[in-house]
Amino acid sequence: MIYRDKAIYNTFRLEARADTYIEYSSAEELARELPGARRPFLHVGGGSNLLFACPRFEGTVFHNAAVDIEVIGGDSSSVLVKAGGGLVWDKFVQWCIARGYYGAENLSLIPGEVGAAAVQNIGAYGAEVKDIIESIEAFDVETCKIRTFGCSECAYGYRSSLFKTSEGRRYFVLGVVFRLGLEPRFNLSYGPLRELDNPTLESVRAKIVSTRKAKLPDPEEVGSAGSFFMNPVVGQDKYNSLVASYPDMPHYPAADGMVKLSAGWMIDQCGFKGFSRGRAGVYERQALVLVNRGGASAGEIISLSEEIISAVSEKFGVTLRPEVQIVK
Ligand code: EPU
Repeated sequence: MIYRDKAIYNTFRLEARADTYIEYSSAEELARELPGARRPFLHVGGGSNLLFACPRFEGTVFHNAAVDIEVIGGDSSSVLVKAGGGLVWDKFVQWCIARGYYGAENLSLIPGEVGAAAVQNIGAYGAEVKDIIESIEAFDVETCKIRTFGCSECAYGYRSSLFKTSEGRRYFVLGVVFRLGLEPRFNLSYGPLRELDNPTLESVRAKIVSTRKAKLPDPEEVGSAGSFFMNPVVGQDKYNSLVASYPDMPHYPAADGMVKLSAGWMIDQCGFKGFSRGRAGVYERQALVLVNRGGASAGEIISLSEEIISAVSEKFGVTLRPEVQIVK
C-alpha cells in the first residue's frame, strides 16, 4: 500500500511526514512497489528509536506490516519460531511465554517491532536479542532478491548489527527466525531478578515489567525514545583512572576486556536528572532518557543532548553517543 504525504508515527511525538510511505506485507509486494520509489529510503519499525531532525522525509519510508508467527521446526530441547518483521515485539514475547518457550522473557515490554529489534540488537536485563536469533530473512533493495543471514553473519554487537552499517542498509528485514528453549533456563544475573525464588516465565516477565514501569516512561504518556545514549565502552586504563575518583561508578564487563560504563549514572552525576531546557527534558526517574515535555522540536532535543554530551565529556572525559537513530 502506497501513501503520499503521510505522518510517520514516532514515540518522541515529533512532527514527521514522509513524501511517500510504503507499507508492505510480503516480499512480492515490496518487489512490486520498490523499483519506482524515490530515494533516499528509510525503513521504520515501531518508531520507538527514531528522532526526526527535519519535519519532512523527502524520500520513501518503508514499513513492514507482516505480523505472522509460526513454529517452523525444532528438536528435543528447542523450537524454531518465525515471526514477521512488523509484529509488535512485546506481542512476540507474550506469545513465547504463553507457550512455555524460554529466552525472550528478559526482553519483555521493550517497545518496537520484531524487525527493528533484530536490526538494533535490543537488550535489557542481561540479555540481547541476538542470543535467540537463528537467522534473518532480508530483502536486498539493490537486487530485489531475498537473502537469508545466519546469526553469525549479522555482525552483532552492543546495539549494533550489519543492518545498521552503510553496507548493510540495503537489506530490509522481512522476518526473523528465533530459537527458543523448551526447558527452563533463566538469565537472572541482573539485580532485581536475583530476588526471584522459583522463577517462572510469568514471574520473570512480571518482575521486568514492574522494573521497567518504575524507571522508564510509558510511550503512551510521555514522548521519548527510551535510552537516548548508548552506555560507553572504555579500556581498562580509562576505567582504572575513573574508578580512582568515582569508586561507586557502576560498570559491567564488555567484550575484549573492555568495560561498559553507565551513561545514565554519569548524566545523573552531572545534575541533569529531571532537568528541562525549553520543552525538552531529562526524565525524572532515569537520566538516560530524554523526553518531549510537550510540543518540543527536534532542535530542542538535540541541543539538550549536546549540552549533556559536553558536560559528561568535561567531567568524565568520556564521549557519549546517541543510541537513538537521528534521521536528517
Ligand atoms: N543510574 C543512576 N541514575 C540514573 C540512571 C541510572 O544512578 O538516572 C544507575 C543505576 O542505578 C544503575 C546504572 O546506572 O546502577 C545502570 O542503570 P539501569 O540499570 O537503569 O540501566 P541503563 O544502563 O541505564 C540499560 C539499557 C536499557 C535497559 C536497561 C536494563 C542501554 C543504552 N540501555 O540501561 O535499554 O532497559 O539497561 O537492562 O543499553 C534502551 O536501550 O532503550 C533501554 C531502555
